[in-house]
Amino acid sequence: MRKTSLFLLFILLSIFVRAQKLQVSELTCNYKSNPVGIDALQPQLSWKLEAAERNTMQTAYELRVAVSKTDLQNGRQLEWQSGKVNSGQSAHLPYKGAALKSKTRYYWQVRVWDNHKNTSEWSDVNYWETGLLTPNDWTAKWIQTSTDTEGKVGPAPMFGRSFDLLGPVKNARLYITAHGLYEAKLNGQKVGDHYFTPGWTSYHKRLQYQTYDVTAMLRPGKNAALVTIGDGWYRGNLEFNHKRNLYGKEVGLLFQLEIEYANGRKETISSDENWKASFNGPVKASDIYNGETYDARLEKNTAVQEFTTAGWQKVKTVDFKLDNLVAPIGPAVSKHERFAPAKVFKTPKGELVADFGQNLVGWVQLKLKGKAGDTVTLNHAEVLDKDGNFYTENLRNARQENKYILSGAKTDVLEPHFTFQGFRYIKISGYNGKLDSTNLNAIAIYSDMAPSGKFATSNPLLNQLQSNIQWGQKGNFVDVPTDCPQRDERLGWTGDAQVFFKTAAYNMDVAAFFSKWLSDLNVDQHANGNVPVVIPDVRAIKNAGSAGWGDVATIIPWDFYQAYGDKALLARQYNSMKAWVEYIRSISKNNLWNSGPHYGDWLFYTMADDRDGKAAITDKFFIAQAFYAHSTQNLINAAKVLGNNADVQTYTELLKAIKQAFLNEYVTPSGRLVSSSQTAYVLALNFDLLPENLRAQAAQRLADNVAAYGNHLTTGFLGTPYLCHVLSRFGYNDVAYKLLLQETYPSWLYPVKKGATTIWERWDGIKPDGSFQAVSMNSFNHYAYGAIGDWMYRTVTGITELEPGYKKISIAPKPGGNLKNASAELQTIYGKVKSSWTIEGGRTKLTVIIPANTTAKIVLPNTANLKITESGTAIDKIKAITDVKNVAGNTELTAGSGTYQFEY
Ligand code: BGC
Repeated sequence: MRKTSLFLLFILLSIFVRAQKLQVSELTCNYKSNPVGIDALQPQLSWKLEAAERNTMQTAYELRVAVSKTDLQNGRQLEWQSGKVNSGQSAHLPYKGAALKSKTRYYWQVRVWDNHKNTSEWSDVNYWETGLLTPNDWTAKWIQTSTDTEGKVGPAPMFGRSFDLLGPVKNARLYITAHGLYEAKLNGQKVGDHYFTPGWTSYHKRLQYQTYDVTAMLRPGKNAALVTIGDGWYRGNLEFNHKRNLYGKEVGLLFQLEIEYANGRKETISSDENWKASFNGPVKASDIYNGETYDARLEKNTAVQEFTTAGWQKVKTVDFKLDNLVAPIGPAVSKHERFAPAKVFKTPKGELVADFGQNLVGWVQLKLKGKAGDTVTLNHAEVLDKDGNFYTENLRNARQENKYILSGAKTDVLEPHFTFQGFRYIKISGYNGKLDSTNLNAIAIYSDMAPSGKFATSNPLLNQLQSNIQWGQKGNFVDVPTDCPQRDERLGWTGDAQVFFKTAAYNMDVAAFFSKWLSDLNVDQHANGNVPVVIPDVRAIKNAGSAGWGDVATIIPWDFYQAYGDKALLARQYNSMKAWVEYIRSISKNNLWNSGPHYGDWLFYTMADDRDGKAAITDKFFIAQAFYAHSTQNLINAAKVLGNNADVQTYTELLKAIKQAFLNEYVTPSGRLVSSSQTAYVLALNFDLLPENLRAQAAQRLADNVAAYGNHLTTGFLGTPYLCHVLSRFGYNDVAYKLLLQETYPSWLYPVKKGATTIWERWDGIKPDGSFQAVSMNSFNHYAYGAIGDWMYRTVTGITELEPGYKKISIAPKPGGNLKNASAELQTIYGKVKSSWTIEGGRTKLTVIIPANTTAKIVLPNTANLKITESGTAIDKIKAITDVKNVAGNTELTAGSGTYQFEY
């Protein structure tokens, strides 16, 4: 008894001591925790500091790396030892040790010193493991079925091989990729819990392979490998108008299983002529747009076996080049939230429909027992029509239909493998039994991005808007940032991605996700610098170089740098940024970008019956010129960070000329713009295109324009992200709040009032009378207008980066719109930032959290003559708070890390 209480005391004490001291936590390597199978030659290491004491800054760090965990902890045989480096850098430290070898696990740890003379313990041991760093590391051969399919729709081929293992296995890795989407099984068990592998990239230039630790899946004696390959992005329907085979006509497999026995012997099982192939698997057909047909009766053909029975044919090896193989940079795609049906009912048309209560992306899992050969069909829809019937017209040519043929032998667990659907409702045909949470569930599937932001206020409609923005992000971040996840599109539209990036980075950790996508942008950018409208470029859509779409090349890298402080990423993208600006320069005349196809301010609001010519249209070349300036500015910013001084000079001069050309062409001497639309004023002001003396009147015109529409916005994809920012910046924060909280069309809350659970493509996807917008362009899950999320975090709760990656943070909330409270959190690379305020009886309470190794500038609005306390003490008496000053009626102060409770 005494022993246990002493032990407990010891534990409590050590927890207490640990909590008091400086610690290092959450080590990451290239944004991932313990990644396996990476190919970066200089991975970047990051960590977070945990400190109870306020105002903690790292003053030094020491890193060490070894290939054995014991050696690492004993400080022996180190691959790299940084020594104590006097530096505050705790993010993106490039590895600088001995050259990395293929197939090697590198263990690492770090310790830090702070400004309060604390030294942390060495951190927990983390690792990264390299994949196959050169094409020569591949001994496997590409295999295909010996019968050509000529790209026709048909069953997903299976590739199989059995093999004997001579004894217990100590370590085994599977390196695998495919033309098409693969699902690999070892001894009947799925390898990994990821979907849609190898992912979608610009396949001919960058094809990802995955690395799996499969040690536990193997056994001495007989083993079997079975890989099924679906059409996927490689050769299934992609782009509109029934286009197939965009990357090739035949699917194929590359498989390399490297085994190390307990006795040290090594063996490799690779794809080669010893494999067999069969078309008799249960996946009868699969297509990303159209769905999958699955015959559970054929599961018997996937049982572990010798692959010698009838139906297994020879494979052929193909000599594809291997230099396009890359390890994944981005996150894997896996299953996330599950939804039970909120309601199962018959529609007025008599169809059996289930409602999951949330528009989501993924699929439905069914558990059914029936007669062998019974067919159950699921169709997927985002909305019901006005009369309550199942509505699929807005899916255009995407069938979104999964068909299951029951085995009869058992309860079948049915879900598709190589397709995903965007839906809230499903229609079930061929089954009339009971359906509830025990046998019917919707599963959300998307890229593994850690949630990084939270945002909530006293207004439930606004909270629903935030939820809709986040669900728009989840559904459209399935390996590639897409426009929409349901109709025959689902493409990496560059305009949509740049518009939404900042909001995306508030809600989730999208660093690895966009790092991958930008790599595809790099390889798909044209030789002349022009940028396709979709990445990966499916080449079928012309229109490359549209303003606001092509500008993704400069916008996302710069915004990425702001959000994550990753200089290496900026350096990697620099040539692409510059090439894009040079492309525009090459086609511009007298510094005016006034040619080319442009989507313009896509899907802006137009009045239905515009007899007095009120409708706002923004000249497309006006928009192009504005983005030419913006891209050039982004390039200058990047050049400054990277120390490319000659470029800074060249492009600063160019920018001057671009702005002058803009003024000459599109602005009257008194400051009126040729296009009298909200978007025109928003772009001119946001990109600083007007001289100082013309800005106030332009902002006034913008505010007047909003008022003329009865406090409604009229902006499309390109104007919307900046609209509220510009209003707040130029003194119309109240107008920004009016727009945010507007409940009638067009507005952000109109869809919310209409029951939306995701962001719609159009301001009026469902019109006030319940009818739909044009079927050709009416997605109910399109994140672009969700770009308001960025303003919500930055203005309502006021969390902004003052220095890249939030090394220095601004907390400057601007309450408004009669909100009683608002609260936001953001996980940055340094740790959690929080800003949370409540206003009650004229008193404001503001809680702020600033992570260790950062500082903050805090602005308390309209506090000129107020007494401000922090946790009950006057702020000028608080040690961690400095530089308190009064600026234009606000109190500004500098604070070190820690938690603060302000009241005034
Ligand atoms: C997509 C968009 C895209 C647009 C380009 C649409 O079909 O869904 O979101 O940006 O085309 O104009």
